[in-house]
Amino acid sequence: MTQPTTSIWAAEPHTIAKHAILTRYLQAWLPILGASHKRMVYLDAFAGPGEYSTGELGSPVIAVQTALKHTAKLKAELWFVFYEPDERRCQYLQEVIARMEVPKHIKPRVRCGTFALAADRFFKWVQSSNERTPPTFAFIDPFGYSQIPMDLIARFAKLKRSEVLINFMYEEINRFLSKPDQKKHFDGLFGCREWRDVPDLKDPRERNELLHDLYMRQLRCYAGFRFVRSFEMINAGNHTDYYLFYGSNSAKGMEVMKNAMWWQDPERGCQFSDLDQSGQRKLFSEAPTPEDIARELHASLTGRTLSIEDLELFIADCHFRWAGIKKDVLPLLERKKLLNVERTGRGYVNGTILHFS
Ligand SMILES: C[S@@+](CC[C@H](N)C(=O)[O-])C[C@H]1O[C@@H](n2cnc3c(N)ncnc32)[C@H](O)[C@@H]1O
Repeated sequence: MTQPTTSIWAAEPHTIAKHAILTRYLQAWLPILGASHKRMVYLDAFAGPGEYSTGELGSPVIAVQTALKHTAKLKAELWFVFYEPDERRCQYLQEVIARMEVPKHIKPRVRCGTFALAADRFFKWVQSSNERTPPTFAFIDPFGYSQIPMDLIARFAKLKRSEVLINFMYEEINRFLSKPDQKKHFDGLFGCREWRDVPDLKDPRERNELLHDLYMRQLRCYAGFRFVRSFEMINAGNHTDYYLFYGSNSAKGMEVMKNAMWWQDPERGCQFSDLDQSGQRKLFSEAPTPEDIARELHASLTGRTLSIEDLELFIADCHFRWAGIKKDVLPLLERKKLLNVERTGRGYVNGTILHFS
């Protein structure tokens, strides 16, 4: 997509899919965190104007509206912090947000400034504040790649309960990768120099995989997120437009994000194409069956012994969701005599030991 220069612009189908994932994640995650913390922070530092010329809502409005639908259950104070450096877009967003009626515990703030400024102010506040750092979700949704250095992402990963959802603008990154004047931006984006081998690769699929895998590795190893997952958005030209990368230190947060991604793509849980649909999720799916999951799980764990708690962490790190593992997949493996279980109670309660034969 070429970057729009107007205050508002049209939403493409994959934008709607991106928002659907964000909405489903927040619908589930806000009440979980809101029940156990007195404050939460939602930082949208590439906020945009809050509306699209085609009538759809922008990410800031979606986030606040999602919280509004949960006001009965949410007792936590919710800080919604929006940064947008383009003055016209920022003003547009201020007006859109001002029209929303919000209860006292929901606090949306719109600021004119960059992600770097937003992050700087946020981390200064974290350092100077006496209170426990609140759970923080940062939505990092740029048009390009030069404003989101891995060093800055790593600062979020170091916080105890923080998560990021990053738009990794693959199409643009791939297009500018060979430009000598962009080297410093790519060194910053990846937090390493290994990307420099990629421009020599002629096979587009290989380039795509290498850049995707390198970014994923850096989110884990350099930034330090325990769990990382991606979702691919394919444009109308049938090319990868961008990947959404989710990073978190919480297995529960990862399960909630997986649910959102699998809801958007019931067949594979990791891809949306503008060619197949117009922002709608598929109605008919060939989702993996418990048999498919059992086969893959067994293939990965043959000969290993682990506790049910470790299995949950293992699943958080892999493609499948935890939902259905205890109910369908483990009983299936037991019936097939591919799994021996040392029980401490009924079913697969904590403390259960699993031997995969
Ligand atoms: C992809 S749009 C955001 C869309 C919005 N998150 C949504 O989903 O509705 C990216 C926005 O980032 C703004 N922007 C550009 N450079 C920025 C920077 N350095 N820091 C923060 N925002 C920036 C652009 O003006 C644009 O409005």
